Amino acid sequence: MVGPGVGEQAHLAPEISLVVEHNCSLPSVFGAKVERGRRHDQAQTYRGPPYPRNLWERPLVVRRKDETVTLKANIDIRPAGVQDAAGIADVAQRTWNDTYAEIILPTTQERLLGRWYTPAALGEATGQSDSWFYVAVVEEKVIGFAQFVMREDRRGELTRIYVLPEWQRQGVGGRLLGEGLASLLSHGAQEVFVHVERGNNKGIGFYESRGFHGVREFVVELPDQDLDLVEYTLSLESR
Ligand SMILES: CC(C)(COP(=O)(O)OP(=O)(O)OC[C@H]1O[C@@H](n2cnc3c(N)ncnc32)[C@H](O)[C@@H]1OP(=O)(O)O)[C@@H](O)C(=O)NCCC(=O)NCCS
Repeated sequence: MVGPGVGEQAHLAPEISLVVEHNCSLPSVFGAKVERGRRHDQAQTYRGPPYPRNLWERPLVVRRKDETVTLKANIDIRPAGVQDAAGIADVAQRTWNDTYAEIILPTTQERLLGRWYTPAALGEATGQSDSWFYVAVVEEKVIGFAQFVMREDRRGELTRIYVLPEWQRQGVGGRLLGEGLASLLSHGAQEVFVHVERGNNKGIGFYESRGFHGVREFVVELPDQDLDLVEYTLSLESR
């Protein structure tokens, strides 16, 4: 048995406490409903303390005394609205700092975040025509988002996709991508493309797992650094 909180009790409000079993996914415990059996009769929401990220794993299983219960987060994917601006900006800030620590200078990150993630910029982006902006939400908290824009020549662009570090590798990005591809397809897109920073192995691993192929490399010159980018594409024609 290995994992966060082994041998300790994770505190549940109000009176239930769980012993964390191996492979427990604590990021998913946050805000998750504890479902016991088929019904939600024992539903409780975890309010415990944060755990070291490197101990967070899947699947979501905890043991309650000698019983096993499954923690299942209820993740909704829905179109983003202006009310989501603060949540989206928070996800962007945290996920950028984590993802781009070795790729984009902190000053550049702050400048670009300050340009693209203000309430005004997000209000415009979520209301943009020929664009689909989705959020992934757990108990009204935004944990991820993605935007897809229809460009010329029936090409859709995935302009941004970010999932909070503690919620990654749990299918959230795949669901956001699925929603976006469905929207692009229903509007006649034949291909989708995305620009990824070279060295962003998370992003590249995700796109390759979804069937995207790298087609070209190019450089974008920013005031304080040059960014090496790779264009990945996915054909939608056979879908
Ligand atoms: C890329 C990102 C959106 C993927 O979201 P996610 O919720 O973690 O993705 P999923 O759980 O749906 O992953 C689906 C599959 O993608 C692949 N994948 C995801 N993250 C990966 C990683 N870090 N390394 C290698 N492959 C990865 C895996 O095959 C995974 O399936 P598995 O978990 O069963 O092995 C998320 O990791 C993220 O926000 N990364 C930082 C921001 C970023 O790089 N955005 C893209 C900018 S272009």
